[in-house]
Amino acid sequence: METSQRHRGEASRTVQDRLPERLPPHPPLARYYADEQERQRQVSRWFDESAARYDFITQAMSFGSGNRYRQQALLQAGLAEGMSLLDIACGTGVLAAHAQSIVGVRGFVVGLDPSPGMLREARGRGVLKLVRGVAESLPLESERFDLLSMGYALRHVSDLRATFGEYRRVLRPGGKVLILEISRPRYRFMFRLLKLYLGCMVPWFARLGRRGRGARELMKYYWDTIEYCVAPEVILAALQEAGFSGVERHVTMGFLSLYTGVR
Ligand SMILES: C[S@@+](CC[C@H](N)C(=O)[O-])C[C@H]1O[C@@H](n2cnc3c(N)ncnc32)[C@H](O)[C@@H]1O
Repeated sequence: METSQRHRGEASRTVQDRLPERLPPHPPLARYYADEQERQRQVSRWFDESAARYDFITQAMSFGSGNRYRQQALLQAGLAEGMSLLDIACGTGVLAAHAQSIVGVRGFVVGLDPSPGMLREARGRGVLKLVRGVAESLPLESERFDLLSMGYALRHVSDLRATFGEYRRVLRPGGKVLILEISRPRYRFMFRLLKLYLGCMVPWFARLGRRGRGARELMKYYWDTIEYCVAPEVILAALQEAGFSGVERHVTMGFLSLYTGVR
C-alpha cells in the first residue's frame, strides 16, 4: 500500500461530544427510497439480484487489485493461523475465503450477510460457516471472535452506534475490529475523478449483461452513499464511543480507508 496516512481517534473527541442518538452512516437518499424500511428492502433486492455478477463488477472496477488488497488488510490486522474471524457483510465470500486459508484448520471463520444470493455465492466459493443476519443485531454469542472484519458495507447499516455496540459484544477482550471502506476524497480534484469513475463509468459498465439494470442502479447508489457518508472522524468517534481503544484510520490513495480498533 503506497501513499498512506494515519489518523488517530483521539483527534475526534469534540466530534464524539456532538454525536446524535441514532447514527446512520448517511442521510436518507430520497432518489432511491421513501423511508428506512424501503431502503433496507431496496438494498437487499439490489445485492441479491447482483450477487452472481458482483465479483466480476468489483474486480473490474478495482482493475483486479481488490482481492489482494483485502488479503493484505487481513494480514496487516494480525490475522494468523488458529485465530477466529467474523466477516460481516461477507457478500460473495472473498474476504472470508482468504481468512479461511490464513487461519487454517485450527482456526475458524464465520461469514455473515443478509442476502441469500450473496450467501449462495460465498458457499460456492468454499466458505464453510455462513450465517444470515445484519450487522446491527448479530445472531451470535458474545466474546467469541479474535478479529471482526467488514468490507465495503458500513454505508449500508442503519445505525453506526448499534453496529459498533454489536461488534464490541462479539469480540473477545483484546479482539480487533477491521473495517475496509471507500471514503469521499478530501481534495477536490481527486473527488471529481473518483465521482466520474465510480458515479458514471462503473454504473455504465455494470448495466451491460443480464440483470444489468439492477446492477447499474446499485452502483449509482454505491457512489451516492460514498459521497454523502458521514466524515471519517465521525466513524472514528463512534468506534471510540462503543468502547474500542487505539482507534485509527489508515488511508491509501486518498480514498481507501482501513479503520481499526481494539476491544
Ligand atoms: C458491497 S458488498 C461487500 C461484500 C464484501 N464484504 C466485499 O468485500 O466484497 C456489501 C454487502 O453488505 C451486505 N449488507 C447490506 N446491508 C447489511 C447490513 N445491514 N448488515 C450486514 N450486511 C449488509 C450486502 O448484502 C452485501 O453483500
